[in-house]
Amino acid sequence: MKLSGKTCLVTGSSAGMGREIVRLFVKEGANVVAFARRKERLEELAEELKNEAGKVLPYAGDVSRKEDIEGAIDAAVATFGKLDVLVNNAGVMDDMAPMAAVSDEKYEKVFSVNVYGPMAAMRKACQVFLAQGNGGNIINISSVGSKHQAAGAIYGASKAALNAMTKNTAYMYEKENIRCNAILAGGFATEIGTSMGMPNMEGYGKVKPVIELSKVPAADPVEIAKACLFLASDDSGFISGVELPVDGGWMSF
Ligand SMILES: NC(=O)c1ccc[n+]([C@@H]2O[C@H](COP(=O)([O-])OP(=O)(O)OC[C@H]3O[C@@H](n4cnc5c(N)ncnc54)[C@H](OP(=O)(O)O)[C@@H]3O)[C@@H](O)[C@H]2O)c1
Repeated sequence: MKLSGKTCLVTGSSAGMGREIVRLFVKEGANVVAFARRKERLEELAEELKNEAGKVLPYAGDVSRKEDIEGAIDAAVATFGKLDVLVNNAGVMDDMAPMAAVSDEKYEKVFSVNVYGPMAAMRKACQVFLAQGNGGNIINISSVGSKHQAAGAIYGASKAALNAMTKNTAYMYEKENIRCNAILAGGFATEIGTSMGMPNMEGYGKVKPVIELSKVPAADPVEIAKACLFLASDDSGFISGVELPVDGGWMSF
Protein backbone atom coordinates (compact mmCIF):
# COMPACT_ATOMS: atom_id res chain seq x y z
CA MET A 1 0.00 0.00 0.00
CA LYS A 2 1.24 3.45 -0.98
CA LEU A 3 -0.08 5.56 1.90
CA SER A 4 0.21 3.35 4.98
CA GLY A 5 0.60 5.42 8.13
CA LYS A 6 -0.12 8.74 6.43
CA THR A 7 -2.74 11.22 7.62
CA CYS A 8 -4.46 13.16 4.85
CA LEU A 9 -7.11 15.87 4.68
CA VAL A 10 -9.21 16.10 1.52
CA THR A 11 -11.54 19.07 1.03
CA GLY A 12 -14.65 18.64 -1.10
CA SER A 13 -15.00 14.97 -0.15
CA SER A 14 -18.77 14.69 -0.49
CA ALA A 15 -18.85 14.43 -4.32
CA GLY A 16 -16.91 14.10 -7.56
CA MET A 17 -13.14 14.03 -7.45
CA GLY A 18 -12.84 14.46 -3.68
CA ARG A 19 -14.94 11.39 -2.96
CA GLU A 20 -12.79 9.30 -5.34
CA ILE A 21 -9.60 10.64 -3.76
CA VAL A 22 -10.83 9.61 -0.29
CA ARG A 23 -11.82 6.14 -1.56
CA LEU A 24 -8.40 5.51 -3.12
CA PHE A 25 -6.36 7.01 -0.28
CA VAL A 26 -8.17 4.93 2.37
CA LYS A 27 -7.76 1.74 0.31
CA GLU A 28 -4.04 2.58 0.14
CA GLY A 29 -3.82 2.72 3.94
CA ALA A 30 -4.24 6.45 4.70
CA ASN A 31 -6.30 7.85 7.55
CA VAL A 32 -8.34 10.63 5.95
CA VAL A 33 -10.24 13.63 7.27
CA ALA A 34 -13.08 13.99 4.75
CA PHE A 35 -14.15 17.64 4.66
CA ALA A 36 -17.20 19.25 2.99
CA ARG A 37 -20.46 20.93 4.01
CA ARG A 38 -22.82 17.95 3.46
CA LYS A 39 -22.25 15.92 6.60
CA GLU A 40 -24.62 13.07 5.69
CA ARG A 41 -22.66 12.37 2.50
CA LEU A 42 -19.39 12.29 4.44
CA GLU A 43 -20.91 9.87 6.93
CA GLU A 44 -22.13 7.62 4.09
CA LEU A 45 -18.58 7.62 2.69
CA ALA A 46 -17.12 6.69 6.09
CA GLU A 47 -19.64 3.84 6.37
CA GLU A 48 -18.81 2.60 2.84
CA LEU A 49 -15.10 2.51 3.66
CA LYS A 50 -15.25 1.21 7.23
CA ASN A 51 -13.59 -2.14 6.39
CA GLU A 52 -10.76 -0.68 4.29
CA ALA A 53 -7.15 -0.29 5.40
CA GLY A 54 -7.36 3.32 6.61
CA LYS A 55 -9.97 5.24 8.60
CA VAL A 56 -12.26 8.12 7.57
CA LEU A 57 -13.05 11.00 9.91
CA PRO A 58 -16.03 12.96 8.49
CA TYR A 59 -15.69 16.69 9.24
CA ALA A 60 -18.47 19.05 8.16
CA GLY A 61 -17.41 22.59 7.33
CA ASP A 62 -17.30 25.42 4.82
CA VAL A 63 -13.82 25.84 3.33
CA SER A 64 -14.30 29.59 3.00
CA ARG A 65 -14.61 29.85 6.81
CA LYS A 66 -11.16 29.95 8.38
CA GLU A 67 -12.34 28.45 11.67
CA ASP A 68 -13.86 25.44 9.83
CA ILE A 69 -10.80 24.48 7.80
CA GLU A 70 -8.38 25.20 10.66
CA GLY A 71 -10.62 23.12 12.93
CA ALA A 72 -10.45 20.22 10.48
CA ILE A 73 -6.64 20.30 10.47
CA ASP A 74 -6.63 20.42 14.29
CA ALA A 75 -9.00 17.41 14.25
CA ALA A 76 -6.63 15.48 11.96
CA VAL A 77 -3.76 16.02 14.40
CA ALA A 78 -5.90 15.32 17.49
CA THR A 79 -7.38 12.11 16.02
CA PHE A 80 -4.50 10.64 14.03
CA GLY A 81 -1.51 12.32 15.71
CA LYS A 82 -0.19 14.30 12.72
CA LEU A 83 -0.88 15.68 9.25
CA ASP A 84 1.08 14.47 6.21
CA VAL A 85 -0.95 15.44 3.13
CA LEU A 86 -3.42 18.24 2.39
CA VAL A 87 -5.51 17.98 -0.79
CA ASN A 88 -7.24 21.27 -1.64
CA ASN A 89 -9.96 19.92 -3.89
CA ALA A 90 -13.18 21.80 -2.96
CA GLY A 91 -14.08 24.27 -5.68
CA VAL A 92 -16.92 25.94 -7.50
CA MET A 93 -17.46 27.21 -11.06
CA ASP A 94 -18.28 30.73 -12.11
CA ASP A 95 -21.08 31.40 -14.61
CA MET A 96 -18.66 31.75 -17.59
CA ALA A 97 -19.22 35.50 -17.68
CA PRO A 98 -16.77 37.62 -19.67
CA MET A 99 -15.30 40.59 -17.79
CA ALA A 100 -17.97 43.19 -18.61
CA ALA A 101 -20.62 40.93 -17.07
CA VAL A 102 -18.82 39.72 -13.92
CA SER A 103 -20.91 40.21 -10.77
CA ASP A 104 -19.43 41.08 -7.38
CA GLU A 105 -21.44 38.22 -5.83
CA LYS A 106 -19.94 35.60 -8.19
CA TYR A 107 -16.45 37.04 -7.76
CA GLU A 108 -16.71 36.88 -3.97
CA LYS A 109 -18.19 33.37 -3.95
CA VAL A 110 -15.63 31.88 -6.37
CA PHE A 111 -12.62 33.55 -4.76
CA SER A 112 -13.73 32.69 -1.22
CA VAL A 113 -14.02 28.95 -2.05
CA ASN A 114 -11.32 28.54 -4.73
CA VAL A 115 -8.63 30.88 -3.35
CA TYR A 116 -9.24 32.02 0.25
CA GLY A 117 -10.18 28.49 1.41
CA PRO A 118 -7.10 26.80 -0.06
CA MET A 119 -4.88 29.64 1.22
CA ALA A 120 -6.24 29.27 4.77
CA ALA A 121 -5.79 25.50 4.58
CA MET A 122 -2.24 25.76 3.17
CA ARG A 123 -1.23 28.34 5.78
CA LYS A 124 -2.41 26.16 8.66
CA ALA A 125 -0.98 22.97 7.09
CA CYS A 126 2.43 24.63 6.61
CA GLN A 127 2.40 25.75 10.25
CA VAL A 128 1.69 22.15 11.31
CA PHE A 129 4.31 20.72 8.91
CA LEU A 130 6.98 23.13 10.19
CA ALA A 131 6.15 22.28 13.81
CA GLN A 132 6.29 18.54 13.03
CA GLY A 133 9.70 19.07 11.41
CA ASN A 134 9.29 16.20 8.99
CA GLY A 135 8.29 17.82 5.68
CA GLY A 136 4.79 17.82 4.27
CA ASN A 137 2.78 17.50 1.10
CA ILE A 138 0.13 19.74 -0.49
CA ILE A 139 -1.84 18.91 -3.64
CA ASN A 140 -4.00 21.64 -5.15
CA ILE A 141 -6.73 20.73 -7.64
CA SER A 142 -6.48 23.43 -10.29
CA SER A 143 -7.83 23.44 -13.82
CA VAL A 144 -6.93 23.71 -17.47
CA GLY A 145 -9.08 26.83 -17.09
CA SER A 146 -6.08 28.50 -15.42
CA LYS A 147 -4.25 28.31 -18.77
CA HIS A 148 -6.95 28.79 -21.38
CA GLN A 149 -10.59 29.80 -21.64
CA ALA A 150 -12.50 26.76 -20.35
CA ALA A 151 -14.76 28.89 -18.11
CA GLY A 152 -15.28 32.56 -17.26
CA ALA A 153 -12.75 35.21 -16.27
CA ILE A 154 -13.21 34.67 -12.54
CA TYR A 155 -12.90 30.87 -12.47
CA GLY A 156 -9.72 31.02 -14.57
CA ALA A 157 -8.30 33.76 -12.36
CA SER A 158 -9.07 31.80 -9.19
CA LYS A 159 -7.26 28.71 -10.47
CA ALA A 160 -4.32 30.80 -11.75
CA ALA A 161 -4.05 32.19 -8.20
CA LEU A 162 -3.99 28.63 -6.89
CA ASN A 163 -1.18 27.78 -9.33
CA ALA A 164 0.81 30.79 -8.10
CA MET A 165 0.37 29.78 -4.44
CA THR A 166 1.46 26.26 -5.38
CA LYS A 167 4.74 27.33 -6.97
CA ASN A 168 5.49 29.88 -4.28
CA THR A 169 4.95 27.35 -1.50
CA ALA A 170 7.10 24.74 -3.24
CA TYR A 171 9.88 27.33 -3.57
CA MET A 172 9.63 28.81 -0.07
CA TYR A 173 9.71 25.45 1.71
CA GLU A 174 12.03 23.44 -0.52
CA LYS A 175 14.63 23.04 2.23
CA GLU A 176 11.95 22.04 4.76
CA ASN A 177 10.84 19.27 2.36
CA ILE A 178 7.28 20.55 2.10
CA ARG A 179 6.24 19.53 -1.40
CA CYS A 180 3.45 21.39 -3.18
CA ASN A 181 2.01 20.47 -6.58
CA ALA A 182 -1.06 21.32 -8.63
CA ILE A 183 -3.18 19.14 -10.88
CA LEU A 184 -4.66 20.92 -13.90
CA ALA A 185 -7.87 18.94 -14.34
CA GLY A 186 -9.57 18.70 -17.72
CA GLY A 187 -13.25 17.81 -18.14
CA PHE A 188 -14.66 15.32 -15.60
CA ALA A 189 -18.13 13.89 -15.00
CA THR A 190 -18.93 15.30 -11.55
CA GLU A 191 -21.52 17.58 -9.95
CA ILE A 192 -19.51 20.77 -10.63
CA GLY A 193 -22.13 22.08 -13.09
CA THR A 194 -24.57 22.53 -10.21
CA SER A 195 -22.28 25.18 -8.69
CA MET A 196 -22.51 27.31 -11.82
CA GLY A 197 -26.11 28.53 -11.62
CA MET A 198 -27.49 30.07 -14.80
CA PRO A 199 -24.58 30.43 -17.29
CA ASN A 200 -23.87 33.72 -19.01
CA MET A 201 -24.89 32.84 -22.56
CA GLU A 202 -22.36 35.13 -24.28
CA GLY A 203 -19.54 33.58 -22.25
CA TYR A 204 -20.87 30.06 -22.68
CA GLY A 205 -21.05 30.50 -26.47
CA LYS A 206 -17.39 31.53 -26.55
CA VAL A 207 -16.22 28.83 -24.14
CA LYS A 208 -18.03 25.99 -25.94
CA PRO A 209 -15.52 25.69 -28.85
CA VAL A 210 -12.66 25.51 -26.33
CA ILE A 211 -14.45 22.71 -24.46
CA GLU A 212 -14.99 20.91 -27.77
CA LEU A 213 -11.25 21.17 -28.52
CA SER A 214 -10.63 18.67 -25.73
CA LYS A 215 -12.03 15.87 -27.98
CA VAL A 216 -12.21 13.80 -24.77
CA PRO A 217 -15.61 13.06 -23.21
CA ALA A 218 -16.02 14.09 -19.57
CA ALA A 219 -13.79 11.60 -17.79
CA ASP A 220 -14.14 9.43 -14.69
CA PRO A 221 -12.92 11.40 -11.63
CA VAL A 222 -11.04 8.32 -10.51
CA GLU A 223 -8.31 9.49 -12.97
CA ILE A 224 -7.75 12.51 -10.71
CA ALA A 225 -7.62 10.23 -7.66
CA LYS A 226 -4.89 8.13 -9.34
CA ALA A 227 -2.79 11.24 -10.06
CA CYS A 228 -3.33 12.42 -6.47
CA LEU A 229 -2.17 9.06 -5.15
CA PHE A 230 1.08 9.43 -7.09
CA LEU A 231 1.64 12.97 -5.79
CA ALA A 232 0.69 11.99 -2.21
CA SER A 233 2.98 8.95 -2.12
CA ASP A 234 6.74 8.73 -1.79
CA ASP A 235 6.88 7.68 -5.48
CA SER A 236 6.81 11.42 -6.28
CA GLY A 237 9.21 12.35 -3.48
CA PHE A 238 11.47 14.41 -5.81
CA ILE A 239 8.59 16.31 -7.47
CA SER A 240 7.49 19.75 -6.25
CA GLY A 241 6.19 22.96 -7.82
CA VAL A 242 4.66 21.10 -10.76
CA GLU A 243 1.43 21.96 -12.60
CA LEU A 244 0.41 18.51 -13.86
CA PRO A 245 -2.28 18.36 -16.55
CA VAL A 246 -4.65 15.41 -16.05
CA ASP A 247 -6.86 16.06 -19.02
CA GLY A 248 -6.56 13.28 -21.61
CA GLY A 249 -4.34 15.52 -23.73
CA TRP A 250 -6.49 18.65 -23.86
CA MET A 251 -3.52 20.89 -22.99
CA SER A 252 -1.36 19.38 -25.71
CA PHE A 253 -2.41 21.81 -28.41
N1 LIG B 1 -15.24 18.55 -13.00
C1 LIG B 1 -14.42 19.17 -13.82
O1 LIG B 1 -14.54 19.04 -15.06
C2 LIG B 1 -13.29 20.02 -13.28
C3 LIG B 1 -12.36 20.53 -14.19
C4 LIG B 1 -11.29 21.27 -13.71
C5 LIG B 1 -11.14 21.48 -12.35
N2 LIG B 1 -12.08 20.98 -11.49
C6 LIG B 1 -11.87 21.25 -10.06
O2 LIG B 1 -11.91 20.02 -9.36
C7 LIG B 1 -12.32 20.26 -8.00
C8 LIG B 1 -13.39 19.25 -7.62
O3 LIG B 1 -14.53 19.51 -8.43
P1 LIG B 1 -15.59 18.40 -8.83
O4 LIG B 1 -15.67 18.44 -10.31
O5 LIG B 1 -15.33 17.13 -8.13
O6 LIG B 1 -16.91 19.11 -8.27
P2 LIG B 1 -18.18 18.60 -7.44
O7 LIG B 1 -18.59 17.24 -7.87
O8 LIG B 1 -19.16 19.72 -7.53
O9 LIG B 1 -17.60 18.52 -5.95
C9 LIG B 1 -17.20 19.69 -5.31
C10 LIG B 1 -16.90 19.39 -3.86
O10 LIG B 1 -16.51 20.62 -3.23
C11 LIG B 1 -17.28 20.81 -2.07
N3 LIG B 1 -17.48 22.21 -1.78
C12 LIG B 1 -18.00 23.16 -2.59
N4 LIG B 1 -18.07 24.32 -1.93
C13 LIG B 1 -17.58 24.10 -0.70
C14 LIG B 1 -17.39 24.91 0.45
N5 LIG B 1 -17.73 26.20 0.49
N6 LIG B 1 -16.85 24.34 1.56
C15 LIG B 1 -16.51 23.03 1.58
N7 LIG B 1 -16.67 22.22 0.52
C16 LIG B 1 -17.19 22.75 -0.60
C17 LIG B 1 -18.60 20.07 -2.33
O11 LIG B 1 -19.16 19.62 -1.10
P3 LIG B 1 -20.39 20.29 -0.31
O12 LIG B 1 -21.33 20.86 -1.32
O13 LIG B 1 -20.95 19.13 0.46
O14 LIG B 1 -19.76 21.30 0.57
C18 LIG B 1 -18.11 18.86 -3.11
O15 LIG B 1 -17.69 17.84 -2.23
C19 LIG B 1 -12.76 21.72 -7.95
O16 LIG B 1 -11.73 22.50 -7.37
C20 LIG B 1 -12.94 22.09 -9.41
O17 LIG B 1 -12.75 23.47 -9.65
C21 LIG B 1 -13.15 20.26 -11.92
